[in-house]
Amino acid sequence: MKPTKATITFDNTLKPIELPVLSGTAGNDVIDIRALGKHGVFTYDPGFMSTASCGSQITFIDGEKGLLYHRGYPIEQLAEHCDFLEVSYLLMHGELPNATEKNEFTKTISGHTMLHDQLNNIFRGFRRDAHPMAVMIGVVGSMSAFYFDAMDVYNPQHRAISAHRLLAKIPTIAAWSYKYNSGQPFMYPKNSLNYAENFMHMMFATPCEEYTPNPVLAKAFEKILILHADHEQNASTSTVRLVGSSGANPFASIAAGIASLWGPAHGGANEATLQMLEEIGDVSRIDEFIKRAKDKTDTFRLMGFGHRVYRNMDPRAAIMRKTCHEVLNELGLQDDPMFKLAMELEKIALEDEYFVSRKLYPNVDFYSGIVMRAMGIPNSMFTAIFALARTAGWIAQWSEMNADPEHKIGRPRQLYTGEARREFMPIERRT
Ligand code: CMC
Repeated sequence: MKPTKATITFDNTLKPIELPVLSGTAGNDVIDIRALGKHGVFTYDPGFMSTASCGSQITFIDGEKGLLYHRGYPIEQLAEHCDFLEVSYLLMHGELPNATEKNEFTKTISGHTMLHDQLNNIFRGFRRDAHPMAVMIGVVGSMSAFYFDAMDVYNPQHRAISAHRLLAKIPTIAAWSYKYNSGQPFMYPKNSLNYAENFMHMMFATPCEEYTPNPVLAKAFEKILILHADHEQNASTSTVRLVGSSGANPFASIAAGIASLWGPAHGGANEATLQMLEEIGDVSRIDEFIKRAKDKTDTFRLMGFGHRVYRNMDPRAAIMRKTCHEVLNELGLQDDPMFKLAMELEKIALEDEYFVSRKLYPNVDFYSGIVMRAMGIPNSMFTAIFALARTAGWIAQWSEMNADPEHKIGRPRQLYTGEARREFMPIERRT
């Protein structure tokens, strides 16, 4: 029988505290510790290693078994049969759209793809060589100054309008961050194209030259978007929820999510993986880098390996690995030295006792970086593309939080380790 209560005995002066045990529809039961604060007891959990920060119906991960479901559908099925907008609809609405709903949703998103013309000036305020992620954080944040007509976060209609605007405009923002950085003119969205193709058009076309996406590459890009659409309560999603928990507007909340995603331990890993492969340079140097990754006195880690939740192969990585081979075959790049290096590194790490015993498998970003590089996407855009895809999940999670009657401003406590109390010392007496 499943336990329904947990008891903690904390201090002899206190009676044992009984705490309810909550069960979800799948996954671990959790001890509901909300009442602890009333007893003057707090828990300590840096990095939220053992904390469920919210209830959610959007994404389920079983890290031991390597499972990822969105609204109950396995990621493998979604990646095989859906396009990105269908998955976004699923995340946001809880059900896959029927044909009419899909058409309507696609039409709504297409109707919002352009940016307010004055937003161009915000791009132009950045240095020419600004990283696309820096530009995206700034431009998405500045949307609060352009689309403030629907920012009442407690109004479901306002939330829906903001969600559509974000989902529709984020590819334009991401593509323009690249265009600005590369010195090419901005390409306006083409609403006759699908979501993934439209982004590729805005990235690769110029006013003098059309871009016709290769269908294998367009499909691979669609998969990258689907596989990155949501991933439960990771650092950036938790950031979006925490920022949004104060009632902050959706554009500020998503801009904060993009900032959190940028770090190399999170979304920045795809860019960092390619940088690492470039630094390794040759198969003969792999051992040296594996040694460094194991050395506790060295801060170097094998980028694209390991995951906080998966102690098994990341199911997204398995799909992306297959896509990686398809793209490299299509482009005749099977003998590309960088790809060979990556495959050798993967093989060595998968056999190495250090990585095996810690269950460190290649993650999705190990392969997605290689795919994007083969597609001609520059390294600096990898994390921006992750942000574009994850916007679907951030919006869904942000909306779920705002619709939840139990939601409260996020306000963790701390274990204070500073000076307890001391008396003020005038400056002339300070040593
Ligand atoms: N290379 C070498 N050692 C590693 C690595 C790595 N990539 N990842 C974890 N370890 C070791 C770590 O040193 C520790 O060893 P020990 O037990 O001897 O101290 C053990 O494995 C557990 O690591 P941890 O840091 O406690 O694990 P975590 O859950 O806090 O970190 C992680 C997860 C993803 C931040 C980490 O694995 C990492 O830094 N990986 C490289 C960056 C990366 O690829 N990130 C992308 C994650 S997937 C995309 C996303 O969700 O954003």
